[in-house]
Amino acid sequence: MALLKVFLVWLSFILSVSCQQAVFETPTFHHPIRRVAVVGAGPAGLQAAAKLVEHNFTVRLFERAPHPGGNWLYSEETPVREPYPDKPVDQTVEIPLHLPATRYYNEGDDGLTLNDRWTEHWQPRPLWDSLHTNSPKVSTELPDVKYDQDTPWVLSNHAIQRHVRSYASHHCLNLNDYCPTTPGAPPVTVYSTRVEKVEKDAETHTWVLTLRRLERLRESQRILEEWWTEIFDAVVLATGPYTAPHVPDIDGIIGWSKVTQGGHYSVYHSQKYRHPEPYAGKTVLIVGASVSASEISRDLAPFARRIIASIRPPKDTTGARQRSLSRFPNITEFVPEIASFEPLTDHSNGIRNGKIHLIDGSVLQGIDEIILATGFRGNPLFPPNSTTRRPENIHWTGHYVPDPTLAYTIGRPWTMGRYQSYGFVKVWEGSARLPTAKDEKFDDNRKSGPYWRDMWLGEELFRRYITWLNDASLAHGGRFVEPPPIETVELLKYYAVVHLLNNTMQLDGIGSFGISMLADRFRDEESVWKGLVDEDADW
Ligand SMILES: Cc1cc2nc3c(=O)[nH]c(=O)nc-3n(C[C@H](O)[C@H](O)[C@H](O)COP(=O)(O)OP(=O)(O)OC[C@H]3O[C@@H](n4cnc5c(N)ncnc54)[C@H](O)[C@@H]3O)c2cc1C
Ligand SMILES: NC(=O)c1ccc[n+]([C@@H]2O[C@H](COP(=O)([O-])OP(=O)(O)OC[C@H]3O[C@@H](n4cnc5c(N)ncnc54)[C@H](OP(=O)(O)O)[C@@H]3O)[C@@H](O)[C@H]2O)c1
Ligand SMILES: *[C@@H]1O[C@H](CO)[C@@H](O)[C@H](O)[C@H]1NC(C)=O
Ligand SMILES: *[C@@H]1O[C@H](CO)[C@@H](O)[C@H](O)[C@H]1NC(C)=O
Ligand SMILES: *[C@@H]1O[C@H](CO)[C@@H](O)[C@H](O)[C@H]1NC(C)=O
Ligand SMILES: *[C@@H]1O[C@H](CO)[C@@H](O)[C@H](O)[C@H]1NC(C)=O
Repeated sequence: MALLKVFLVWLSFILSVSCQQAVFETPTFHHPIRRVAVVGAGPAGLQAAAKLVEHNFTVRLFERAPHPGGNWLYSEETPVREPYPDKPVDQTVEIPLHLPATRYYNEGDDGLTLNDRWTEHWQPRPLWDSLHTNSPKVSTELPDVKYDQDTPWVLSNHAIQRHVRSYASHHCLNLNDYCPTTPGAPPVTVYSTRVEKVEKDAETHTWVLTLRRLERLRESQRILEEWWTEIFDAVVLATGPYTAPHVPDIDGIIGWSKVTQGGHYSVYHSQKYRHPEPYAGKTVLIVGASVSASEISRDLAPFARRIIASIRPPKDTTGARQRSLSRFPNITEFVPEIASFEPLTDHSNGIRNGKIHLIDGSVLQGIDEIILATGFRGNPLFPPNSTTRRPENIHWTGHYVPDPTLAYTIGRPWTMGRYQSYGFVKVWEGSARLPTAKDEKFDDNRKSGPYWRDMWLGEELFRRYITWLNDASLAHGGRFVEPPPIETVELLKYYAVVHLLNNTMQLDGIGSFGISMLADRFRDEESVWKGLVDEDADW
C-alpha cells in the first residue's frame, strides 16, 4: 500500500513536470532558408533585420516611409484628405496586371495632389510635436545603443526617433547606409516601398512579395511609381499594430472631406494633429476617451477656448481607461457618443453652423474643429483579407503555425524584440526547434484567459524565451541571451510609483521615503514585469 502511494506521488510528480515543460519539435522546411524579407523598419523590424544580417541571411528590409523609425518617425508632412471610412486608403490600391510596371503621376491625376499621393504612401503618422512616452526610458530602449545618461526617463518622441535611427545606423540599416559583405550585393534596406501583397507560391514553396515604391521627382514635379515582385524563403511581418487610422462610420462623416464640395464636415483624425497653436480661441470637439484623446486635449488646453470630449461607455474595466480619463484637462466638457452629423447647409462660418446630434438626443453647435482620436487599425498583410492585427494561430515565438517560414513580431519590441528576433534566426538557420503547435495551455487560453495575459504581459514570456534560446544554443551552438538586468526591474518599480501613481492619484510631495515604501509594494508583483512588456494587449 505504502509502495503504491509512493508510486502515485512519483507518477503525479512526473506528470506535473512533463505537463509544465514546453514541447518542441524540429520544423521541416521545403528547402534551406537563405533569403528573408522583413516588412517594416520600426523598432521591431530593425531588430529582426539586424539579427538576420548578423547571421548571414540575405536580407531585404522594406519600409513604406522614406526613413526608419516606424511609429517614432515624426513628420510634419500629412495628407490633406481624410481616409474614407468604408475603404481605407491602404486597400484602394490596384495592383497592375503585368509586373514590373512603372508610372508617372502629375499634380491632380485621379483627383489627387502630389502631396497627398506621397504622404498617403506612408501614413499614418500618429505623433504630435509635444508627445512624450507613457513608458519609461528603461523599458523603451533598443539594445546596442544607449540613451544619454541625462535623458529624462519620460522621453520626448523626438528623443526616441533619434534613438531608433541610431540603432538603424549602428546596424547599417539607415537610409543610404550601404555596407555589403560581398561586393555589388543588393542593399538590405528599401525605403519608400510598400509591401502591397504577401503570397505563398504553392509550387516553389517561396513567398512572393508585391512591392510599390514611390519617388518624388521634384525637378519635374512628378511622382515615379515602380511596381515589382521579389521572392523569399521566409518573411518577418513587422508592420506594427497601427498601420492605418480608424475612422468610425458615423452618419455624415464623409471621407475626402476637404476635396468634396458642399455638405461635409472637415474632420481630422488625430494622426494629423501636430501643434496646438492653430486651435487658439477655438471650440474643439475631440472624439475618443483613450490616450490620444486625453493627451491631445492636454496639449490644447492652454490654447483652445473650449474642449468638448465625446466619449462612450467603457467596454472593459481595465485601469487604462480610468487613467486616460484622469488625464483630460479640467476644462474638458464630456458629452456622449455622436449619433450623426447633420449635413452642412452653409460653409460661411467653417463648420460652426453645423448640427452634431448625440445619442442622448441633444445637439452640439458652435464647434470650430473636430479631432477624431478614434485610434488605429492594423493590417498584417497575411493571411489575405484578415481583419485582425495578427492571426490566431501563431506560436508564442511569433512563428505562424500553418507555415513557420512566416513570422510576426508581437509584444513590446523594446524589451521582447531582441529575444524574438534571435528566435526567428535560430529556427530558420536550424539551431533551435519550434514549440509544437499543441501548446495547449497557451492555445486554450489564448483569447481571454488569465494565462494568456500572464503569458504575453508577464515574466513568463521572458523565462520562456531565455530558457528556450539558451537550451538551443547549448545543444546547437550560438550565443547565450541574458534576462533583463535586475536594475531595469528596480527602476521600473520606481517609475511605476513616481510617475504612474503620481499622475493618476496625484500623490503630491510623497518624498523619497514614501516612494521606497510604495516601491516595496511592487517587489513581488507581476505588474513590474507587465510594465516591461505591457503596451497594448491586443498586439
Ligand atoms: C501615438 C502613439 C504613441 C505611442 N506611445 C508609446 C509609448 O509611449 N511607449 C511605447 O512603448 N509605445 C508607444 N506606442 C506604441 C508603438 O507602436 C511602439 O512603441 C513601437 O513603435 C512598435 O514598434 P513596431 O516596430 O512593432 O511598429 P511601428 O513602430 O509601427 O513600425 C512598423 C513599421 O512598418 C511599416 N509598414 C507597415 N505596413 C507596411 C507595408 N505594407 N509595407 C512597408 N512598410 C510597412 C510602417 O511604415 C512602420 O514604419 C505608441 C503608439 C502610438 C500610435
Ligand atoms: N505616449 C503617449 O502619450 C501616447 C499618446 C497617444 C497614444 N499612445 C498609444 O497609442 C495607441 C493608440 O492610442 P489611441 O488613443 O490613438 O487609440 P485607442 O487606444 O485605440 O483609442 C481609441 C478611442 O476611440 C474611441 N472611439 C472609437 N470610435 C468611437 C466613436 N464612434 N465614438 C466615440 N469614441 C470612439 C474608443 O472608444 P472604445 O474604448 O469605446 O472603443 C477609444 O476610446 C495606444 O497604445 C496608446 O497607448 C500613446
Ligand atoms: C557569418 O559569416 C562570417 C563570414 O563568413 C562568419 O565569420 C560568421 O561567423 C558568420 N556568422 C554566423 C552567425 O554564422
Ligand atoms: C484647471 O487647471 C489649470 C491648469 O492646470 C489651473 O490653473 C486651474 O486652477 C484649474 N482649475 C480648476 C477649477 O481646478
Ligand atoms: C480577398 O478579397 C478580395 C476582394 O474582396 C477578393 O477578390 C479575394 O478573392 C479575397 N482573397 C481571399 C484569399 O479570400
Ligand atoms: C507629482 O506630481 C506633481 C503634480 O504634477 C508634481 O508637482 C510632483 O513633483 C510629482 N511628484 C513626484 C515625486 O514626481
